[in-house]
Amino acid sequence: MADNVILVGFMGAGKSSVGRLLARRLGRCLVETDDMITGREGRSIPEIFAAEGEAYFRAAEDAALGLLARKHGEVIATGGGLPCREGRPEALRALGTVVWLSGDFGALYRRALRAGERPMLAGRSRDDVLALYRAREPFYRQADLTVDTTSLGTDQVAAHVLAALRSRERQRA
Ligand code: S3P
Repeated sequence: MADNVILVGFMGAGKSSVGRLLARRLGRCLVETDDMITGREGRSIPEIFAAEGEAYFRAAEDAALGLLARKHGEVIATGGGLPCREGRPEALRALGTVVWLSGDFGALYRRALRAGERPMLAGRSRDDVLALYRAREPFYRQADLTVDTTSLGTDQVAAHVLAALRSRERQRA
C-alpha cells in the first residue's frame, strides 16, 4: 500500500525540518528528493544547476519521482519545484497523502532567503519569485491536505500536520 506522507510547498515552507520532526513522531524514515538527487550526482544542488542548468535538474527530479514508487510508509519531503508540472500532483497523490505546507508569500520568501543558497532565487527579484510562486500555487493546491505555516514554528506545523492526518484517517475509516 502506498501510504507515504508527502510534503510539498514553496521554498521556505519548512518541508525538510517539518519532515524530520514528522518522521520522528510517526516512527518513519524521512526521504528527501533533493538528497536522492545530490546523492546520485555526488554534487550539491547549486553545483548541478551551475554545471548542467535547470532542465537537467528537472529531469533528475523525474528520475527521483520514479524511484519513489518503491517507498512505503515513509515521510517524503519534495523539492519546491517537483510537484509543479503536468501530471506531478496526481503522481504524488498515488504515493500517499500529499500535504501542502502553505504560507504567505512574504513569509516564505523571507525564510527561503535566510536559509541559504537556492539557485531558483539567485538573480531573481522579489517580483520574479512572486511570479514563480503564483505559477506554482495551482499545483500545490492539488494536495490532499493544507497546513498554513505562516507565523508557526516547526513544532507547531508538525503538530498541525499530524492532527490533519489523523482527522483524515478518521474520516476515511
Ligand atoms: C527548488 C527548490 C529546492 C531545490 C532546488 C529547486 C525549486 O528545494 O529542489 O533548489 O525549484 O523551488 P527546497 O524547496 O527544499 O528549497
